[in-house]
Amino acid sequence: MNTIAESTYDELPYEDFAFFHTHPGNLAAVATLCGLRPPAVAACSVLELGCGAGFNLLAMSQSLPDARLVGVDLSRRQIEAGREMAARAGAANVELLVGDVAALDGALGQFDYIVAHGLLSWVPADVREAIFRTCRRLLRPDGIAYLSYNAYPGWHLRGVLLEALQFHAAAGGPPLERVRHARAALERMAGEIAEQDSDYARVLRREIDSLREDGDAYVFHEFLESDNHPLRFSEFAALAAASGLRYFGEARYGMSAAAQRGAMRRALDAVSPDPLRQEQYHDLLRNRYFRQSLLCQEDRQPATHPPTGALDSLAVASKVERLAASADAPPEYRLHDGSIMRTDNPLFAAILERLARRWPRAAGVPDLVGEVDADMAGVAMPPGAARSDVIREGILVGYIMGWWHLHAHLPAAQLQPGERPRASALARICAARGATPTNLLHLPVDLDPAQRALLARLDGTMTIGQVAQALNISPASAAEAVRQLAESYLLVA
Ligand SMILES: C[S@@+](CC[C@H](N)C(=O)[O-])C[C@H]1O[C@@H](n2cnc3c(N)ncnc32)[C@H](O)[C@@H]1O
Repeated sequence: MNTIAESTYDELPYEDFAFFHTHPGNLAAVATLCGLRPPAVAACSVLELGCGAGFNLLAMSQSLPDARLVGVDLSRRQIEAGREMAARAGAANVELLVGDVAALDGALGQFDYIVAHGLLSWVPADVREAIFRTCRRLLRPDGIAYLSYNAYPGWHLRGVLLEALQFHAAAGGPPLERVRHARAALERMAGEIAEQDSDYARVLRREIDSLREDGDAYVFHEFLESDNHPLRFSEFAALAAASGLRYFGEARYGMSAAAQRGAMRRALDAVSPDPLRQEQYHDLLRNRYFRQSLLCQEDRQPATHPPTGALDSLAVASKVERLAASADAPPEYRLHDGSIMRTDNPLFAAILERLARRWPRAAGVPDLVGEVDADMAGVAMPPGAARSDVIREGILVGYIMGWWHLHAHLPAAQLQPGERPRASALARICAARGATPTNLLHLPVDLDPAQRALLARLDGTMTIGQVAQALNISPASAAEAVRQLAESYLLVA
């Protein structure tokens, strides 16, 4: 039993957060592109190992009300907090259990998807090995497991920060006090380094800059836990193989070696034809420090390229917004992550324009291909290439680049508000607490206080006019705000 994890996570629990890439709708999309036949998502079963207070599963239950969602964690305090939240949110399909992931027997049954986010690197070696065995035993034949972990070589550089933080935090005291003391000491230390223009000073300053964005709980568990074991990808793949599992890709599909194009593709091909060696080399070329790796049972046969038809079973559901542009400049688009994109490439321009016109409606890939095909009727294609194949490759490349998401499952969202709009109970609870709600696409939605106050009231019993009256705002501005919440996938059908 890992008692260290039990005590520190009881004392300083993680903040509530949902992780987009762990959602079965994403895992199934990636597995499909990797040539596997993942379990159907809507009524699937999910086991989350080291689930903390279970917020990821609670957020999933909004989009997967017919799934079986089970979470296990050592920390009693976190599980109890999660159960209380599940009861308040009416998430009857979420089951949270206090337990050691290394000691799970078959009593829970088998699962279509197993998720362990932020667990593997934070446990001792024997628990790490047991996690692979648990995945092997509890994963259905076509199931998919997601394991994230800190990786080398990126962690060699982050280790500089870890060493300095641990030095200052060694003063003792409760976790929060240690973090605050270490943060302050580190800021001072940056100015005291002997050679201010050395590589060491530059690395440390950059790491300290990024640390300012991180919450105290994250900093404590990321840097000050006694267990933080980054892995080389090759070690990860060997542990998986030794347990009867097979690595097949990254949950961020665009981060897999197999998805690389252009100069990176050529570099990877030149070093080795072996996909696992390519993955390891890819980490060296990117100085990767974190991985979200996917496993299947060893007898499944993944493919390095998406098989014919794989893309057509998926849908794009990503916000693209066309921004006003001057007549002589190419249009600009704001993407789902807030980044701005401008392109002269007619293919990407046509895809972006179609997605912008469709939003918030999702686009099945065959429909999107058809629409873009019509828009590009006069555009010359490379000799011998079918236009529809060029468009499919464009959709895949945009997905690899992170410009839009592909989903294997679309949630039952209410995209145009009805008479009495309703948000999920979880979203309402988050909004009432001033926290960031997670939408039905499993993404956080940043709202201002006025939007949160409105969202917290949308329980399906009041008309928009009644909500406006309760909040003392004009019916027109309430209607506009509710429309925006609906477009953000925050209302349930
Ligand atoms: C780094 S936190 C990650 C929590 C959550 N998955 C997240 O990413 O926000 C690691 C979690 O694993 C739990 N944990 C550590 N060892 C465990 C074990 N042997 N069995 C079950 N849970 C464990 C801890 O209690 C903690 O909640």
